[in-house]
Amino acid sequence: MKFNKTIEDSPTLQFAEAVNRRRQRGEEILSLGLGEPDFATPEILTDALAKAAAMPSSSRYSSPLGLPSLRQKISDDLVRRCGLPCRMDNVVITPGTKAALQLVLMALLQPGDEVVFITPAYVSYEPQIYIAEQKAVVKTVDLSHTDYTLSMERLAQVVSPRTKAIILNTPHNPTGTMLPKPLLCDIYDLARNNNAYIISDEIYERLVFSEMSHFSIGSCESEVENVITVGGFGKSMAVTGWRVGYCVVSKSLLPKINKLQQHINTNTATVLQQALDLAWPLPTSHLELYNATMRDRVAMYKQFLAANPILRGSNPQGGFFSFLNIGNTGLNSIDFTTRLVARTGVAATAGRAFSPLWDDHVRLSLAVDSKILAEAFCRMSDFIISLKQC
Ligand SMILES: Cc1ncc(COP(=O)(O)O)c(C=O)c1O
Repeated sequence: MKFNKTIEDSPTLQFAEAVNRRRQRGEEILSLGLGEPDFATPEILTDALAKAAAMPSSSRYSSPLGLPSLRQKISDDLVRRCGLPCRMDNVVITPGTKAALQLVLMALLQPGDEVVFITPAYVSYEPQIYIAEQKAVVKTVDLSHTDYTLSMERLAQVVSPRTKAIILNTPHNPTGTMLPKPLLCDIYDLARNNNAYIISDEIYERLVFSEMSHFSIGSCESEVENVITVGGFGKSMAVTGWRVGYCVVSKSLLPKINKLQQHINTNTATVLQQALDLAWPLPTSHLELYNATMRDRVAMYKQFLAANPILRGSNPQGGFFSFLNIGNTGLNSIDFTTRLVARTGVAATAGRAFSPLWDDHVRLSLAVDSKILAEAFCRMSDFIISLKQC
């Protein structure tokens, strides 16, 4: 394929490499950068992986769609927990959520199709759209810069019969906010009225630590049709490196996804699928602990904001992240993060990575050991004071 300027390196992965290089040079870095859980992989999963590895069938190809027993379990789980109207033959197991998104976009997009997503946005949406279809047209809707809410009116102005898909992400990377059920129901109607698909990225759906409940927009349908739900196990089970995700698609879309999977990935690593299958029902106690810990970390983050009135920020409800408005410091997000890491050793992700319009923000991962987070907030407060003195 021809690479054009819209496809660049992933800023968050580049960031991780830069942090690693600094650490290799012996620098002490407190990284609030990457979105990786700071809790250990539950033992039931690592034990299951060892058992799976001993099974001869695990070293062989699986069906491109995934192990039937695991597809069934994922489907049952999504019906029970999220109210999705899915059956096993709507589920395709993919090498990570990112691969699910890519296969779906490749299956859907034709030249000239418009894809709408909300900014700030997960860094891979735009490149993945162009990888799927160079002549796709990207349309974005900005969250409110004051309270990070999504305006239905603004979305309705952008969605039209030319829209092939609207990508949603709740809980949201990078703000940590969640879309409320009534708004999601309105978005569902808007998409239906324009004959558009909704691609609902629910990778953080089990990481909710507020009074909000996660609502799966796919539950608005009585059978899987226009809503494509994507998710994965990396974040909630602390197995980001395993690369196992899934998409839930209509029966008419499934054969296309199947062909793409056959020719691109063949299948998701059988041994990992087998491990998840053996470990089922997946553990939940670590999630309860995580969500309780996150409530404390959000409280720390709010104290940090209160102590530095020059800053504002999102109110995280789920996922890993908070989004900090550093506009009043007079620095853009690249200058802020560059100086911050050089002077304090605290690494954060520049808001520009999530859209050029959010260059006055930085993303902080709260999925970091609480003591390290407390130290990072202390150093950041000193940094903010030092900026005021310049
Ligand atoms: C919103 C969002 N979607 C998708 C992904 C990709 O997830 P995976 O690692 O399962 O491919 C990420 C990863 O950070 C993400 O934040």
